[in-house]
Amino acid sequence: MYSDKVMDHFNNPRNVGEIENPSGVGTVGNAKCGDIMRMYFDIDEQGVIRDVKFKTFGCGAAIATSSMATELVKGKTVQEALTVTNQAVMEALDGLPPVKVHCSLLAEEAIHAALWDYAEKNHITIEGLKKPVDDIAEKEEAEEE
Ligand code: FES
Repeated sequence: MYSDKVMDHFNNPRNVGEIENPSGVGTVGNAKCGDIMRMYFDIDEQGVIRDVKFKTFGCGAAIATSSMATELVKGKTVQEALTVTNQAVMEALDGLPPVKVHCSLLAEEAIHAALWDYAEKNHITIEGLKKPVDDIAEKEEAEEE
C-alpha cells in the first residue's frame, strides 16, 4: 500500500525536533483526524532556509510527508520553498494512497505557516504566499464546495 520511500521516511524520519529561536514556526492541524504538524525554519539573511525541524503528532503518512517536506525545503530560498507543494512531496515519496492525500496537505500548509510567521516577524511579503489556516479541514471543506 505504501511505497518504500514512504516506509523509509516513516521509519527513519529526517529532521525531527525543534529549533530554538526559529526564524519562523508554523503549526497546522486537521480537526477531522486530530493530527498536528509543527515546522521550524532557520532562515539566514539571504532568505535561504538553512535548517528545518518538525514535530508531527499524526499518522504514518503525515510523518513521512513532513520528513520529506523538510528535506525538500532545506537549502531553498523562501520563494523556492513555495514550490514544495503537497503534490511535490507526494511525487518525491513515489505517491500516497488516495485516502492519505490529505496528510500531505498538512505538510504543505505547515511550510506556509512557518513562512508566514517568518514574513510577519520580518515585515516582508513573500510573493504568492497566502495566509495559512490553523485547521486544514476547513480548507478541504472549502475546496469540496
Ligand atoms: Fe490525518 Fe494523516 S490521517 S494527517
